[in-house]
Amino acid sequence: MKLEVDISGNTDIYGIFGYPVKHSKSPQFQTSAFSYLNIPAVYLPFEVKPEDLEKAVESIKVLGIKGVNITVPHKEEVIKYLNEVSEEVKYIKACNTIKNIDGYLIGYNTDAEGFITGLKQLIPNLEGKKVLVLGAGGASRAIIYSLIKEGVDKIYQANRTLGKVFKIIEDFKPLTKFIEEIILPISYDKIECCVLPYVDIIVNTTSVGLNEEDKPLFDYSKIEKKHIVIDIIYKKTPLLKAAENKGCQWQDGLPMLLYQGAKAFEIWTGKKAPIDVMKKALLK
Ligand code: ATR
Repeated sequence: MKLEVDISGNTDIYGIFGYPVKHSKSPQFQTSAFSYLNIPAVYLPFEVKPEDLEKAVESIKVLGIKGVNITVPHKEEVIKYLNEVSEEVKYIKACNTIKNIDGYLIGYNTDAEGFITGLKQLIPNLEGKKVLVLGAGGASRAIIYSLIKEGVDKIYQANRTLGKVFKIIEDFKPLTKFIEEIILPISYDKIECCVLPYVDIIVNTTSVGLNEEDKPLFDYSKIEKKHIVIDIIYKKTPLLKAAENKGCQWQDGLPMLLYQGAKAFEIWTGKKAPIDVMKKALLK
């Protein structure tokens, strides 16, 4: 992206720490927002090796970097180097956004709000809804957190290793005393008979579908028109194609990516993110 920034002592520095990081779209779409609002700032990708993470976080303070996004593989590890984390980070156990206030680093996780903002475009009120969540990895924790906060009735959470679901239930206990009634662990072979008829929303948080030839997580032909289907992968996966064929409402991972970035921008700048401008930069 060609950018015009007035480089001076007043130019703020932002960035993203990841390994690898070159593929990241964040520099383009965060820069588009800074430019649009005439905020003198640059946003750069920083390739940080795992063994250098502590030093890299220290450099945020030393160099006066205003804000940083954190991506794979540092989201969990970075937490211990921060001065403070917001509530959602404690549950999700991952941080993707750091704000530097005069050397005091606060960690946030904007994936949760990013996901829910995207989903609400399809279904504005999630209260009382029943949701099937596929997977129990790091990404699922942000999604589970946001669904519980929105007051969903049930989350059927499927995973190959159900121990991970039980761990999530354990970790989320302080969030609601009803956690054991909200999250129900379920194996993939039970989805068609015992879950699909009862749920409103299906969310894939696994990497299955990234490659066309991946073995489907269940028989996607059993999806019904009433289901709203979300895949957090940034493309039309076999799951989403099946949903489209049935006439369902569906969404890929792009809205989550867009809104998590917009939320980070708002945390850093205190200004409303120019969503349309950021979306255009993301789709380029
Ligand atoms: P992320 O941070 O993206 O969530 P992760 O924490 O490594 O990544 O989690 C990956 C998720 O995808 C897990 O739920 C994993 O299932 P297991 O816990 O049973 O390993 C799931 N996953 C990955 N490949 C899968 C496959 N081929 N079939 C089913 N689930 C898969």
